[in-house]
Amino acid sequence: MARRTTSEEILAELRAPFDESPVRRIGVWSLEKLATLQLYLPAFARACQRAGGGYYVDGFAGPGRASVRGAPEPYFVHGSPLIALRAKPEIERCIFLEIDPHKLAALEGRCAHYGERALLRRGDVNVHLVPLLREEVPGWAPCFCFLDPTGVELKWQTVAGIASLPGRRRKPELMILFPLEMSVIRLLTVDRPMRDEDKSRVNAMFKDDSWWDIYQSRVKGEIDKAEAKRLYLDKYSKDVKGLGYKSVESRQVLAYVGAGKKRQPRYHLVFATDHPVGEDIMSGIFKRDFVLDLPVSRQPSLFDL
Ligand SMILES: C[S@@+](CC[C@H](N)C(=O)[O-])C[C@H]1O[C@@H](n2cnc3c(N)ncnc32)[C@H](O)[C@@H]1O
Repeated sequence: MARRTTSEEILAELRAPFDESPVRRIGVWSLEKLATLQLYLPAFARACQRAGGGYYVDGFAGPGRASVRGAPEPYFVHGSPLIALRAKPEIERCIFLEIDPHKLAALEGRCAHYGERALLRRGDVNVHLVPLLREEVPGWAPCFCFLDPTGVELKWQTVAGIASLPGRRRKPELMILFPLEMSVIRLLTVDRPMRDEDKSRVNAMFKDDSWWDIYQSRVKGEIDKAEAKRLYLDKYSKDVKGLGYKSVESRQVLAYVGAGKKRQPRYHLVFATDHPVGEDIMSGIFKRDFVLDLPVSRQPSLFDL
C-alpha cells in the first residue's frame, strides 16, 4: 500500500512563491479544501488516462494564488486553478470561470506557462458555466467540477444544470463548498426577522423552499442550532443526490482559531460522483485528519496526520 502523504508534505506542495500580481487573502481553514483537491486530482487524472483524458472545471476560479491571514510572515499558496494545472499526471484541460476582471487578469498571468491546457473565461457562474461546459467539455470526457463560492452565490439552477447536461457518458463530478457556518447560518437570523433579500438569496441556493420549514422550527425553538445545521446540510446533500448521483458525501471543515481554543465549524465540502473509483478515493480523503494550521500556529504536529 502507498504511504499516506503527510500534512507537512501537503503544505509543502501547496506553497507558492511571491509574485507581483494580486492574491486572495484566506483564512487558514481554506487550506483544507485546497489539500482535498491536491490529494484527489492526481487520482482523478490517473483514472482519466484510461478514459482518454479528463477535464477540470472551476466555476469560482479566483486569482490563482492566496496569502494566509494571520501567518507571522507572508505565506503564499496556490489557488485551486493552479493545483489543477500542476497535478501529475496532467489533467488534459482545465477551464476557469471568474467574474472579477482583475482576478481574471492575475490568473491569466499565472496560467500563461500552461498554454492551451488552460482555458479562461470571464463570466457569471450562474449564467455562463453550463453553456461553457456544453461547448467545451466533450460528452465522453470525465469531468470534475469545483464550485467554491464565498457565500450563497451558487444557485441551485446551476448545480442542476451541470448534473443534467445532455449527451454525457457520466455526470460531471461535483465538489461544492457549502458555506453553512461561513454564510448561510448568518443569513438565517433567529434573533430578528430575515431580510427579504437574504430570503431570496437562500431560496435560490436551495432546490426548493423546504429550508423555510427548518428555519421556522429553529425560530420557534423546536430545534436547536446544531439540529438546524444538520437538517440544512442533509437537505442540500439529499437534493444533490436527487439529481441522479450514485454517491454524495460531505465533510465538515473546522477552523483553527487560536492556540488552546476549540476549533470552529466553517464550511462543508459536498462531493457527488457516479464513479465507484471517485467515491472510494474521496471517501478516504474525507475520512482522514489534516493538521494544516502550521502557517499560522507555527506548531508542527507531534504526530503524523
Ligand atoms: C472563494 S473564491 C475562489 C477561490 C479559488 N477557488 C481558490 O481556491 O483559489 C471565489 C471567487 O469567485 C468569484 N466569484 C464570485 N461570484 C462569482 C460568480 N457569480 N461567477 C463567477 N465567479 C464569481 C470571486 O471573484 C472570487 O474570486
